Amino acid sequence: MNNLIIKNAAQLVTCSGFAARAGADMADPGTINDGALLIDDGLISAVGRTDEVLAGITEQDSLVIDASGKAALPGFVDSHTHFIFGGYREEEFCLRLSGTGYMEIMARGGGIASTVAATRKASLSELVDSGRARLDSMLSFGVTTVEGKSGYGLDHDTEIRQLEAMKILDREHPVDIAGTFLGAHALPVEYKGKSDAFLDFLMAKVLPEVAKKELAEFCDIFCEKNVFSLSQSRRFLRKAKELGLKLKLHADEIVQLGGAELAAELEAVSADHLLNASDHGIEQMAQAGVVATLLPITAFSLKEDYARAREMIDKNVAVALATDLNPGSCFSGSVPLLFALATLSMGLTPEEAVCAMTINGAAALDRADSVGSLDVGKKGDAIILEFPSYRFLPYHLGVNIVEKVIKDGKLVFDKTQGGRLA
Ligand code: NIG
Ligand code: FE
Repeated sequence: MNNLIIKNAAQLVTCSGFAARAGADMADPGTINDGALLIDDGLISAVGRTDEVLAGITEQDSLVIDASGKAALPGFVDSHTHFIFGGYREEEFCLRLSGTGYMEIMARGGGIASTVAATRKASLSELVDSGRARLDSMLSFGVTTVEGKSGYGLDHDTEIRQLEAMKILDREHPVDIAGTFLGAHALPVEYKGKSDAFLDFLMAKVLPEVAKKELAEFCDIFCEKNVFSLSQSRRFLRKAKELGLKLKLHADEIVQLGGAELAAELEAVSADHLLNASDHGIEQMAQAGVVATLLPITAFSLKEDYARAREMIDKNVAVALATDLNPGSCFSGSVPLLFALATLSMGLTPEEAVCAMTINGAAALDRADSVGSLDVGKKGDAIILEFPSYRFLPYHLGVNIVEKVIKDGKLVFDKTQGGRLA
């Protein structure tokens, strides 16, 4: 069967649009009561009220899902993760619980460096296997598109291996993956004290290959005090742009360096973290149309103050939310936790949070033309909740209420049938 019909949905949440929703445009995701959705050969072919959509349609050749009493939404887009890695850092988590800072652990040679050591030892098939399990978990939360970064190799072979693992998973797993080259994530031990030389190496020996073989769509850098400076980030990202990669930045996470301003200057697709973005940076992002990707679970896990989401939206920035799943600062891909923190701790409304996880997540991956909303022509990526309204996403605190996930018009996850379907 190549067609799928969702009918009688108590609420069809469309998040309609083909570009980022900025500021006040996030206030209403758009809902249709008693809604229906038609998916034909993987693409959405009709959206509307059930009686209108089903008029003249034969249901015989389609998988029909009756969503009475339930809400249907676009699949979530988790636009910032580091889900390909080796090893874990539970000891470091305990150190942080007892007061040691994240950057302090990094300065002592732990943190990212410890995951780099473990990832360098991991084979391609080990990275694929652990990545696959993490994708299964994301899918169960309703995520149908995810971004994943390299950055735990910091050498030619491991960086390429991480990106290849994502290419393999993109082909074999229902979740779509947008790959990001984050070779400039930290300084590897072999380049201690030589950060410019390390960036030269990446720009000469890794970045051109990544671009030529199309191993990644985006290039990112950890622009942070004691990691890569603003001018180093500018130099590196300019080169990446020249080679045809789209840009992202880990910006103003721990220290206010002007990362938000740099993202605007370079017309990056998104600037991420932004816990310490300046007023000026926020204005510049609004003007340049840079998506602000906020990562509340990371702030929570690092016990840092949250990014100023409310002010950003009020200043007409397009805000996206993402998990930042990684083995260090934020070992969580939990969408329910994300909704809880975004609404209860950052002041987003449930409506804004829904837009931030759908259409704006898609825009943060430059994919607002193909995913992130229930619009005719887009991929048939949708989720059905166990409850009649999207408002249950934050309200049912910390609980996964996703019942079904449809990817490219195929039912791939169904809690009522035991979870992931073959
Ligand atoms: O987005 N801030 C830098 N990078 C990651 C954390 C990486 C790690 O701790 O392994 C982040 O928080
Ligand atoms: Fe990150």
